[in-house]
Amino acid sequence: WPAFADDIDAILALKRERNAVILAHNYQTPEIFHCVADIVGDSLALARKTMTVDAEVIVVAGVHFMAETAKLLNPDKTVLIPDPAAGCSLADSITAEDVRLMRQRYPSAPVITYVNTSAAVKAESDICCTSGNALAVVKSLNATRVIMLPDEYLARYIAAQTKVEIIAWKGRCEVHERFSAADTRELREAHPGVTVLAHPECPPEVVAEADFAGSTAAMSDYVGRHKPARVVLMTECSMSDNVAVDHPDVDFVRPCNLCPHMKRITLANIRSALEENRHIVTIDQRVAERARWAVERMLFV
Ligand code: 13P
Ligand code: SF4
Repeated sequence: WPAFADDIDAILALKRERNAVILAHNYQTPEIFHCVADIVGDSLALARKTMTVDAEVIVVAGVHFMAETAKLLNPDKTVLIPDPAAGCSLADSITAEDVRLMRQRYPSAPVITYVNTSAAVKAESDICCTSGNALAVVKSLNATRVIMLPDEYLARYIAAQTKVEIIAWKGRCEVHERFSAADTRELREAHPGVTVLAHPECPPEVVAEADFAGSTAAMSDYVGRHKPARVVLMTECSMSDNVAVDHPDVDFVRPCNLCPHMKRITLANIRSALEENRHIVTIDQRVAERARWAVERMLFV
């Protein structure tokens, strides 16, 4: 990719100079994901792998909650986010005060918080989860009912797989909520034999129409294991572009919805983050201690 060569060369040199690593979520564009990232994956893999990082600086090519999670797990390292305005509609759907009110309303139910939340919300939780481990986290609590915040659709997806009563919130991913069951049926008609994979942040009727539902890493693994002749990933646009690089023999049908927050991260702002040491992620110490506990607890499930 000649258009990107100058930024890629500069970023690779800056990483060496600054003893830095770049974490990239599966929704980052291919030139970031394949050319400059050191660690890639879903939210769970990024959290797990960030704990093994032996570098002074961590640049998070992802959204703000991912950068906060990296900072929680690496309090002594410098964590940079190239654009601090890279938010998330799920993280914006709930506040710490909302969680406290839910606890008052259901005092005996433990609170499970999706990692797509602010550190302040995590600090009010008993344990975090991702789309990759949510069911295991519910089971680990041995409770008859739990509060699962803030993604209503993820909560409904998990509720369908357990007898545990799940009390949900009303948050939605602005990207995945746009997929419909009609989209899925039209794709099957237009592309006979296509295998449909959906992220659990999609509406339940989309998940019901899919052949498989799972986190971004689970979808990627599915393609590697089953090698479908033709596949569609009901998720963010860059996911198919990134997975397709490793599977030239699989035909990817690519309708997609773009995450405007993920797309705020570019090679240019990764380069200036490393050149100018910005934007440094900070978390209030008392909030960080409680939020770290909820994230670490999830990593031991
Ligand atoms: P994953 O944890 O499955 O990568 O999902 C993160 C996300 O933001 C999905 O929209
Ligand atoms: Fe948040 Fe949805 Fe974007 Fe993921 S895709 S970061 S859940 S808005």
